[in-house]
This record gives sequence, structure tokens and C-alpha cells, in this order.
Amino acid sequence: MHVHETETLSETVAAPKVAIRSHAEAAAREAAERIATLAGAAISTRGRFSIALSGGDTPGPLYSLLATPAFASRMDWSRIDVFWGDERCVAPDHPESNFRMACARMLDHVPIAPGHVHRIQGEREPHEAAHAYERLLRSYFGAAEGPPERSFDLVLLGMGVDGHTASLFPDTPPVTETRRWVLESHASQPPVIWRVTLTPVVLDAADVVMILVTGASKAERLREALEDPTRSPPLPIQRIRPTHGALAWIVDAAAASWLRRARC
Ligand code: 6PG
Repeated sequence: MHVHETETLSETVAAPKVAIRSHAEAAAREAAERIATLAGAAISTRGRFSIALSGGDTPGPLYSLLATPAFASRMDWSRIDVFWGDERCVAPDHPESNFRMACARMLDHVPIAPGHVHRIQGEREPHEAAHAYERLLRSYFGAAEGPPERSFDLVLLGMGVDGHTASLFPDTPPVTETRRWVLESHASQPPVIWRVTLTPVVLDAADVVMILVTGASKAERLREALEDPTRSPPLPIQRIRPTHGALAWIVDAAAASWLRRARC
């Protein structure tokens, strides 16, 4: 689909909820608290909790927190299914693997069965890995054709300094994909060029999208993402608009330091 340069997000978009915490650790703790609560609610109402993890550096402290007894003991890991929002096209034991990072910080330290950990096969050809993961997601969410009515209970996302999220990089086809749930993606910068990413088709169908952003390096882009809705073309992170669910930002003061509007 050709993205018209004049395309903007000019339609009225409810101001997203932004929680600002003093430091990255406090932001991670806020996210961990909400995840434990969301998991409990989903398991008691639907008998399971599905979460799509983000990669990169930001979520590391969050994953370590979730593995501590204070949080891990609150979560019924036998009813939790873990997925990824994106993966670098590397082996699962590669230093740049998002799967490897999540295992090292969390999954190797909690009682979750291997059958509940659904990694993207980064070692495969990107388009094959993307098709395989889409088949897996379609089977899990029971949607053989078309878009999902409902996808994950929670999608955790980060934001790059260029406004990318998952592996949806500015001015690349996956950003405006309207049919496929998972695509191969060509990153515009290191560490790993080829990626596999979920597209907005499945990300927007989540019950909750939680965007965790910390650090002064993100401040300028965060202001743009939150306070420039008419930006043309929109940043990839601005295109994440839950069809029915909630969108929540959790940021630290350093990342929020350019924001003009007071937030909670
Ligand atoms: C990835 C992530 C990506 C990440 C942003 C922010 O695979 O790199 O999924 O979308 O969230 O690039 O990365 P940092 O947290 O390292 O700044």
C-alpha cells in the first residue's frame, strides 16, 4: 500500500495515558506491577494470559524484576504464554537475540514450561520464520483468515530513537501492512539488519499495549510521538492504535524531559 506523504494522524486521538516515574528502575517496577495485575485478571477471567515481549535493552530490568520472588510468586506461570513482538534474525543463543535476553533475565528463572514459550525462529530464513510465526499466532488466537478480533492480553513495546517500535522501522512496508500479522523486516541500523516483526494488524488487536521508554536519548522523539499528532508521515510508534484495547505509556523522567504537557 502506498503511504501518501500527506498522511497524518489528524483524526482525534484520545490523549494516551502517560505515567512518568523518577528513574528507569521505578518505571520498570510500575510496569511489573501492572503486568502481574493484568496476568491475574486474565487468568481468572479467561484461564490464560498471553504476553508479547519487546526486545532491546529497556525491558531488561523489568524482566529481572518479574523473575524476583516478589513478582514471580504472584503469577501463575502454568497459565502464561510468552511470545515476542519481534526478533533479530540470529540464532537463539546469539548475544543479540531478544529470546536469549528474555531467558537470561526472566524465563530461565521462573517455573514456565517450554511449551508456553513461543519464540520467533530467528535462525530460519526471515520470510520463512515470519510465515511460521504467523501460522502459530493464527492457531493460538483461532483466526485462520483475516485480522484477529482480539490478540494478546498484553503487548509490551519499546521505542527506538527514530520512533520505531518492534521492528517496524520508518518508511518500511511492515509499518503500513494491513493484511499479514508477521513480516520480515529490514532494519535501518545495527545491531542486526534482518528482523522478523509483528505488524500493527496483530499488535493493535491486543487488550493492552504498554510502551516502556526510558533514558534521555529518547526525550526528543518521545515529545514528537506524544505531542505531534499531525506529524507526516506518522512515526511507526504513532501508528500503534489499539482497535479496542488500552494504550499505556510508562516512561522515566529523563525520557519525559522534553514533554510540554503535564502528565500523571
Ligand atoms: C528490538 C526491539 C526494539 C526496541 C527498540 C528500543 O528488537 O530492538 O524490540 O523495538 O524496543 O529498538 O530499544 P532499546 O530498549 O534498546 O532502546
